[in-house]
Amino acid sequence: MSLSNIDIEMYESEDPLWHPSVRAMPMPGIRKMVNMAASMPDVIHLSIGQPDLPAPDNVVTAAVEALRAGQTGYTMDAGLPQLLESLAAYYGDRYQKPLTPENVLITTGATEAIYLALTAVSAPGRHFIVPDPSFILYAPLIRMNGGEVTAVPTHAENNHQLDPQAVIDAIEPHTYGIVLNSPNNPTGTVYPRETLDAILQEAAYRNIQVISDEVYDHLIYDGIEYPSVLETCSDLDNVMVISSFSKTYSMAGMRIGWIFASQAAIKMLRRYHMFTTTVANTPFQWAGVAALHGDNDFIDNMREEYTRRRDRLIELVEATPHLTGYKPEGAFYMFPSLPEGVNGTHVALRLLKETGVCTIPGETFGNHSNNALRLSYSTSLDNLEKAFERIIPWMEKQDFD
Ligand SMILES: Cc1ncc(COP(=O)(O)O)c(C=O)c1O
Repeated sequence: MSLSNIDIEMYESEDPLWHPSVRAMPMPGIRKMVNMAASMPDVIHLSIGQPDLPAPDNVVTAAVEALRAGQTGYTMDAGLPQLLESLAAYYGDRYQKPLTPENVLITTGATEAIYLALTAVSAPGRHFIVPDPSFILYAPLIRMNGGEVTAVPTHAENNHQLDPQAVIDAIEPHTYGIVLNSPNNPTGTVYPRETLDAILQEAAYRNIQVISDEVYDHLIYDGIEYPSVLETCSDLDNVMVISSFSKTYSMAGMRIGWIFASQAAIKMLRRYHMFTTTVANTPFQWAGVAALHGDNDFIDNMREEYTRRRDRLIELVEATPHLTGYKPEGAFYMFPSLPEGVNGTHVALRLLKETGVCTIPGETFGNHSNNALRLSYSTSLDNLEKAFERIIPWMEKQDFD
């Protein structure tokens, strides 16, 4: 039996041993596609969700030095004091905001931060607003604790911008949280400051938490100054702002993330964190300190490289029949749509089987996103060219009407 078969069986287990909420966790479309691709020769991946560039030298050196210096024990529960201080100083300076180490909790990647923030608030009878499409973790984690999700769809014709009025209109008496993710995975869309202003104002007025996932906060193109919830909010009382080193410094495997929130919220989340992962990885917290104190060249070069790829991807999608693209302003994804009614999952599966190009079907990211594909440009320009040398002739032969 191949590894991919074992994985799929594990995910689809009906064994009553498991808690119903665990059994109800969806088998991520990303896993399905990547597992299938693993059994095929000569696959080109447009499916990758992590940077393809190596981590900066100073980060790797700091991690090795921390290990050599015996930094292999636990840190304090909120995180390594030097990292808490560095993060508060870095983001305080970046957003001109008075942030202190008591406003930060270090987590095992943004993933743990998202887990803590959503499951600490979600409960039966509580509603959460989540854009659709969105990153795969939010809705299942909310539902796992009995909460309900109201999806607010976004559309390729509108660059997948989130309509703040649609978010405000979706608020109900039992709405406890609004999840935002800009730059967005899977669309690459960056929400302008006005969108954040409108949502944050309404949320503060109604005492609703805004949980903002900002892991791509440095992957912003075209010279746009990044509008962050951390900067835009008037105070931290109603916000939890999450990010990590994973994408900015190619440190995804080092698993260091964080939450910025009010001191009261951090105290509560710290307690939850102690019962979840205890503390984040110590040597890689030191690597994070080095990342924040390093120069900006790594980020600038990465941005330039991704901008080149993004621009070429826009041209390639434009040249592809049946795909409607747009200009993503951040992250390293585009989420072009297929004609209305066309099933993106069938298209992604056929594309993989018939051309060997692995994309991620839209429905992975929400119920309103069936006729779309997520394309990642976290791969070389050469791979992008080769992928579209296969995709374009294949699409030319399709008759979707
Ligand atoms: C929007 C978004 N949030 C969070 C994560 C997870 O980040 P981390 O590796 O820091 O856990 C990802 C990873 O793909 C992501 O795309």
